[in-house]
Amino acid sequence: MSTYERIVILTGAGLSAESGLATFRDKDGVWAKYDYREVATPEGFARNPSLVHDFYNMRRRSLASVKPNAAHIALACLEQKHKGQVLIVTQNVDNLHEAAGSQNLIHMHGELLKVFCIHCRMGCSWADDLSTDLACPSCDKTGGMRPDIVWFGEMPYRMGDIGDALAEADLFISIGTSGNVYPAAGFVAEARANGAHTIELNLEPSEGVSYFAEAIHGPATRIVPAFVDKLLGI
Ligand code: APR
Repeated sequence: MSTYERIVILTGAGLSAESGLATFRDKDGVWAKYDYREVATPEGFARNPSLVHDFYNMRRRSLASVKPNAAHIALACLEQKHKGQVLIVTQNVDNLHEAAGSQNLIHMHGELLKVFCIHCRMGCSWADDLSTDLACPSCDKTGGMRPDIVWFGEMPYRMGDIGDALAEADLFISIGTSGNVYPAAGFVAEARANGAHTIELNLEPSEGVSYFAEAIHGPATRIVPAFVDKLLGI
């Protein structure tokens, strides 16, 4: 049975890979097909909003055909059964953690199924395509509706809550992330500096593997359920 009380889990695109969602930096990843400066920056949106809408409309539609995998389900099970606290901080904008039953969850990079209006800042859930001629349901202006995604150069969400959780964690687990993007890539050092035990679960060693006290490598659907069982003493 786990002796850990407060567990913080950082997840990335590798967790959803076996559900059929491409990662970003693997050889056939999203950034091998799209230029992030065009589709994932405020400047790109200002230059060509239709190109950005096409990109996120495609990704939003792909959510309809995917399901949470055994790794998502194992993490939801850990949250339900662990006597202490389990917080998931995800970089993923898909809804597979929620679909698996996870509740204590922070989407630090936003969500594909949410939008907001840059004119009036109204935010809401949204499952359909976006376009430049769509009127905001609140201010009725067009051209302002954008995906509620944290683009490069923008501040991730709830950094204060994440910092508090990292300060108190006694176990930090990183799953399916390459450790290329900050501030998420710096969480392991922060957790470790606060005394947490740190473990990387990933298909292969990440950029930040040397920061971790322990690492287990393999596909998430195999290594995450086994690791959760060990934590729960099953
Ligand atoms: N099981 C476990 N890990 C996997 C699997 C798998 N089946 N498939 C791939 N991985 C690992 C890869 O080895 C890689 O280290 O997942 C990681 C995915 O890395 P990235 O594609 O860089 O994705 P991520 O780390 O989540 O990207 C961070 O960058 O593009 C931005 O905002 C975007 O949230 C994203 C952020």
